Amino acid sequence: KEIVVSGIRPTGYLHLGNYFGAIRNYIRMQEEFNCYFFVADWHSLTTHPNPKDLQTNVMRVLAENIASGLDPEKVTLYVQSDIPEIAELYLLMNTLAYMGELEKVPTFKDKVRLQPDNVNAGLLTYPVLMSVDILIQRAVKVPVGKDQGQHLEMARNFAQRFNSRYGELFPEPEAFNYGDNLVRILSLDGKGGKMSKSENEMSTIYLSDEDDKIRQKLKKAQTASGGVPGEPMPESVQNLIEIMKLVSTPDTVQFYIDAYNAGTIRYGDMKTQLGEDMVQFIAPIRERAKSLQEDTTYLRKIMKEGAEKARANAAQTLQQARKLIGLNYY
Ligand code: TYM
Repeated sequence: KEIVVSGIRPTGYLHLGNYFGAIRNYIRMQEEFNCYFFVADWHSLTTHPNPKDLQTNVMRVLAENIASGLDPEKVTLYVQSDIPEIAELYLLMNTLAYMGELEKVPTFKDKVRLQPDNVNAGLLTYPVLMSVDILIQRAVKVPVGKDQGQHLEMARNFAQRFNSRYGELFPEPEAFNYGDNLVRILSLDGKGGKMSKSENEMSTIYLSDEDDKIRQKLKKAQTASGGVPGEPMPESVQNLIEIMKLVSTPDTVQFYIDAYNAGTIRYGDMKTQLGEDMVQFIAPIRERAKSLQEDTTYLRKIMKEGAEKARANAAQTLQQARKLIGLNYY
């Protein structure tokens, strides 16, 4: 079976962007592939240096993933910092990454802008660590949202560079989504930015939102005024349609697309309908996550078993990397 890796940072509650960019693919992939999914706790330290909520956040990400349909019997579910092999390969890989290419990464430039007082070296080498997360398991497919596409390209570059300098070891991983393109769910504020954890609370729908909150947020979602039949949909309407495709029936979606094309669309009705369908979709996930999160004994057991499997596979890769580099003295 092909190997799959993907990670989520424990930096807050999971939202629809995480679900539709990543988790939804995880759930399908677990049936077909050998999947390694992890909580990227080291990664969260680059932007959330006061990890007072780290424990809770890590448990919650695990709980929300399982509540969404990930089966710990089918996938290897673990926490990044439980795999020290990643740290060693990261050290080795850092010598193959150039300052110039790291400084040019858009996500790094964003962070420089967003947190000018904390431009730490971990931010700069973030794509190296992320590449190692993937390469150490020798993954070929990586389910992620569009925002991670460039990081995947870097992972391929680092893999190639290692292979050509030291010898063939890493397959080149590809970003993956069922359907053609990587997904980018937009914030509900209509300004075109991606939905994110740090976003204005009202523009992001969380898997933990209560029913009324979900309805209220969707009711307030911005739909660019106008929308001319025959012209492409405004981005904000397109975004709602995309979200709708995920939670509503195909007939409902088609109804609103037709209404748009006929010029008879009523955004209020559409948002009410979407609110109801979203409640149906999120409520069971939310409730399962709540009870799972309280069962820390169970979650710890999953983490521990996952770490053992992930470490065993990572250790093999690391051993080969050491050997190829010449770091095998005994
Ligand atoms: P993170 O924690 O920001 O997001 C987790 C996943 O959710 C996707 N995502 C979105 N997809 C569509 N629309 C959105 N608005 C949206 N917001 C988030 C992300 O693309 C991601 O798939 N660097 C990664 C974590 C990571 C990782 C890895 C991923 C670390 N190592 C190795 C894959 C493989 C990140 O910050 O994701």
